[in-house]
Amino acid sequence: MSYKNIIVETHDSVGLIRLNRPEALNALSSELMIELGQALMGFENDNTIRSIVLTGNEKAFAAGADIKEMKDKTYMDAYTQDFITDNWEAVMTCRKPVIAAVAGYALGGGCELAMMCDFILASDTAQFSQPEVNLGILPGAGGTQRLTRLVGKSKAMEMCLTGRMMGAEEAERAGLVSRVIQSDQFMEEVMKTAGKIAGKSLPALMMVKECVNRALETTLTEGLLFERRQFHSSFATMDQTEGMAAFAEKRKPDWNHK
Ligand code: CAA
Repeated sequence: MSYKNIIVETHDSVGLIRLNRPEALNALSSELMIELGQALMGFENDNTIRSIVLTGNEKAFAAGADIKEMKDKTYMDAYTQDFITDNWEAVMTCRKPVIAAVAGYALGGGCELAMMCDFILASDTAQFSQPEVNLGILPGAGGTQRLTRLVGKSKAMEMCLTGRMMGAEEAERAGLVSRVIQSDQFMEEVMKTAGKIAGKSLPALMMVKECVNRALETTLTEGLLFERRQFHSSFATMDQTEGMAAFAEKRKPDWNHK
């Protein structure tokens, strides 16, 4: 499929999606979000893909929702079109791991899109912000909710009330990003991490993802029970037999992904 606003590549078992509106710092227009959803679903349905990377360019992951596109919307437009929900949540329906690789600006909806991914790897150039308050609005794609869960109330409140930028080091300290990588090695290291994940058993990856996400939605007791049952289910996979046999025989596992 050909796209206007994103570049889609396959690197062995890793699907790579680059947001590509450099003239607008990758502002997330409706057209871009529709294409992103299509590309993500393409990788979800591709049996050869086991991890997905979502990135931008060196200057921007994404500078937010497209302000020029939304500036004339009325309340009735926003409400009846279910603005933001529609086309924005495709990444949350992915059952395969999705890594956000953030260099440069991740602002507003850009920061929110990165937080919808499973984890964020940041270049040392990354800048995160929820600047919606400067536009007389508030975050609308999960900024007040996901940021609070990731960095706690105090920092989330400060970020959303001031709209200030948070650099990569602070973002790592605060728990927003899993790791900061030097900019000259950024994409190489990101692809190495994505490749490492893609080298595992796909059902095991999917079960891990489902369990970690459940931790954010439920009580500890329910979450532990959910994890225990998934753990039991993993004994029904061919890859459990293979993974444990390979360990005992001191060889690399040859996954069936079943
Ligand atoms: N929407 C539309 N266009 C955008 C944009 C956005 N979010 N961000 C940047 N652009 C455009 C600029 O208008 C400019 O286009 P022109 O050359 O045609 O004028 C181009 O990208 C380059 O931007 P700047 O000239 O402003 O670049 P800069 O380096 O001087 O500043 C910046 C960079 C600080 C990121 C600045 O562009 C900026 O503040 N952008 C807006 C960030 C923002 O407010 N994001 C939140 C959007 S609201 C939202 O996301 C709601 C939600 O919760 C979903």
